[in-house]
Amino acid sequence: MKDIITLGIESSCDETSVAVVKNGREVLSNVINSQIKIHEKFGGVVPEIASRNHIEAISGVTEQALKQAKITFNDIDNIACTYGPGLVGALLVGVSYAKGLSYALNKPLTGTNHIEGHIAANYITHKELKPPFLCLIVSGGHTHLVHIQDYDKFNIIGKTRDDAIGEAFDKVARVIGLGYPGGPKVDNLAKEGEPNIELPKTHIDGLDFSFSGVKTAIINLHHKNPNINKADLCASFEKYVTDILVQNSLKAANELGIKTIALAGGVSANSYIRKEFLKLENDGYKIYYPEPILCTDNAAMIASAGYYRYMTGVVSNLELNAVPNLKIQD
Ligand code: KG4
Ligand code: ZN
Repeated sequence: MKDIITLGIESSCDETSVAVVKNGREVLSNVINSQIKIHEKFGGVVPEIASRNHIEAISGVTEQALKQAKITFNDIDNIACTYGPGLVGALLVGVSYAKGLSYALNKPLTGTNHIEGHIAANYITHKELKPPFLCLIVSGGHTHLVHIQDYDKFNIIGKTRDDAIGEAFDKVARVIGLGYPGGPKVDNLAKEGEPNIELPKTHIDGLDFSFSGVKTAIINLHHKNPNINKADLCASFEKYVTDILVQNSLKAANELGIKTIALAGGVSANSYIRKEFLKLENDGYKIYYPEPILCTDNAAMIASAGYYRYMTGVVSNLELNAVPNLKIQD
């Protein structure tokens, strides 16, 4: 079969990324231009600033991606771009650029869902992974338990009722003075602490999650006692949220009769979460997670998800628009 080369374009938040991926799983290039340094001083992503920086970066990042992959525009078979969910102004930059390329080069365009991209990151790292499996998506904007029935068939079986888990990590880090983005900083500091601080349990029936209670509890603890051991606080927070993630994933896997669990999204780079999930392999589960660079936002995962959409015949036209609150499988 002829090789299919996908150009992936990602601009949903604060990373401008363009990648070239062969047959959905082989990364030829994955250039990521992160704006973290720009947004750091504001303590979070400023949407308008993100859009402007995407505009400035996107052509150069595309040129680099083609150069690193040693291909030209002519070698591309399909253009996949994130059209949601995300920040509308940021998404529009990638969507407009992709539409322009598609029109100028006369190549097919596939609008791609960012969350499906996070799931697909696992296909790149684990060449043997195939649906069906259970995927826990934990990122700055999402906390979803999804039954991946096929490459293009998804069923959400649990989700957060309030904050996304990454938001909780970032908020905790900000309150105790670790800076932005907080996830990796909490991850590192927790390694020096003990999970010895009791946090109030939030009980939710079924497979949904809630993280606003624990986030508020940590903020209150820190305000009441500014000298509290921050490493212990981070370790206790991580243990608390990880216990819930593991518990709900196991419940879902058992309900579905599935033994394969994949993690995805920025928070799946967390070392404690990975370690705790890996322990399940002793009980006969198979655990997958993407390599760290593919956990956070990148265009290789979009190219992979876009490839599978394209192979199932999904092609967008030039009316494609950004959809900030796009749901999985829309
Ligand atoms: O997937 P992502 O890049 O963006 C979204 O689609 O939301 O996820 C970003 C989130 C941020 O909240 C960041 O703090 C978190 O992922 N994150 C981590 C770690 N690395 C990134 N959280 C916990 N531990 C980490 N090592
Ligand atoms: Zn993301």
